Amino acid sequence: MPTPIKDWPAWAEYTHEGPNEAADPEFLAVKKAIIAEYGTSAIRKSWIKVCKELQSVTDEIAEKGNKVIPVFDTTKILTSGFTCAQKNEIKRVGAFVCRATVPEKETKKLYDNLKQFIADNEGSIKGWPKESPSMLILYNSPTQNTLRSHPNHLNLQRKLNELWHDSTGVTTSEPLIYLDGVRDRAPGQPFLGLGPHIDAGSLSRWADPTYRKVYESIFSGNPEKFNPFDLSVRKDANQALYEGMAHSKVLRTFQGWTALTPTAPREGSIMFYPNVKTVIAYMLLRPFFQPPADPGVDIMDGENWTIDGSTGWFPGTFKAESQRLSRSSHPHLRLEECLVYAPPVKAGDTVWWHCDLCHAVDTEQLGTSHASVAFIASCPTTPVNQEYVKMQLACTLEGRVAPDYLEGNDLDETKLKGYVGLDGLGTEARRAFGFHLLKNV
Ligand SMILES: [Fe+2]
Repeated sequence: MPTPIKDWPAWAEYTHEGPNEAADPEFLAVKKAIIAEYGTSAIRKSWIKVCKELQSVTDEIAEKGNKVIPVFDTTKILTSGFTCAQKNEIKRVGAFVCRATVPEKETKKLYDNLKQFIADNEGSIKGWPKESPSMLILYNSPTQNTLRSHPNHLNLQRKLNELWHDSTGVTTSEPLIYLDGVRDRAPGQPFLGLGPHIDAGSLSRWADPTYRKVYESIFSGNPEKFNPFDLSVRKDANQALYEGMAHSKVLRTFQGWTALTPTAPREGSIMFYPNVKTVIAYMLLRPFFQPPADPGVDIMDGENWTIDGSTGWFPGTFKAESQRLSRSSHPHLRLEECLVYAPPVKAGDTVWWHCDLCHAVDTEQLGTSHASVAFIASCPTTPVNQEYVKMQLACTLEGRVAPDYLEGNDLDETKLKGYVGLDGLGTEARRAFGFHLLKNV
């Protein structure tokens, strides 16, 4: 397997229910509600299908490693679009790279500008984790806004949104900008905080009735019918039913980052579980089953697992955090063999992953220079996204923190030295930032 994880990092294993979760009756209530709605036989039927399907999914990934992650040329995509075969690969794998979305030379300058901006505002811009900050709590630096409003970037976001469909006709693929931070990791700087996880809500996926409906085919015995690229129901799902910094109110068709510097496996990159459909189905079904008690029975055979309708344990699920996965709690995923690094990227390349996709931050940074990325996702125009983007823009213009980042953060970025704001944006970019929505206030 190309570039395997050398040693499995010391990420948490979710072997027991946490004390807060054990004391919270909502977990069991949610589980019971789903069992009452779909029935144990349908849930079990799906579980067995998904465990079987994972055998071939994991065999392929274990054999091919990160070669399964497609790599595209941005200019070709913007000129000719994705071919049918490319669309199918994106939908199957869920993660991919687009080369030179922003020209390399231009990106290098933007990174230099960012470093200067940070140096000019030393002491004002905070980061996390506290013990070794690399994720900057910074949302409106000139570098970030230049990248977000770059015509190539916006056009690519539109192409990515077009990979989804919406039978209700309510949404469009016109991109909206979701403010997010920057990561800048010095050589040798470790990062253990984000092991295998799935964003876009944790317990919300089961607890919010609309979000649950997105996965209806999975709970009703037909996981093969689940379409992860359907916005018809998902556009109205509440990903942030529970408070927490990890949860985004905005639906991102693909989360993404733009490389500001070269990054490579074991050099401050990202790891993906390159499959959307089967893995999300498994994750959603996992809380309803318990493994065989007899250690002599094959744990990998889904038939040997029994329905768990009496405990409130959702392995790796914490209301305020993203959904976590681990080797012991999710054994059929064979995480050690199937979590693979993104291919090496240069400054200006973009890396994308579906909002249901399992991913992890590279724990190592063995490179000789900084590994830096700007988080820029693709977000379609939906009523929920519009509402958030309108609030986000009002906050930005008034120097307030956007709603998703209020926790422990009161930095007025308009007061930072070198702040430029959103003056001078072109028509397309102004729309993506939501200026057209403010007029309707
Ligand atoms: Fe994440």
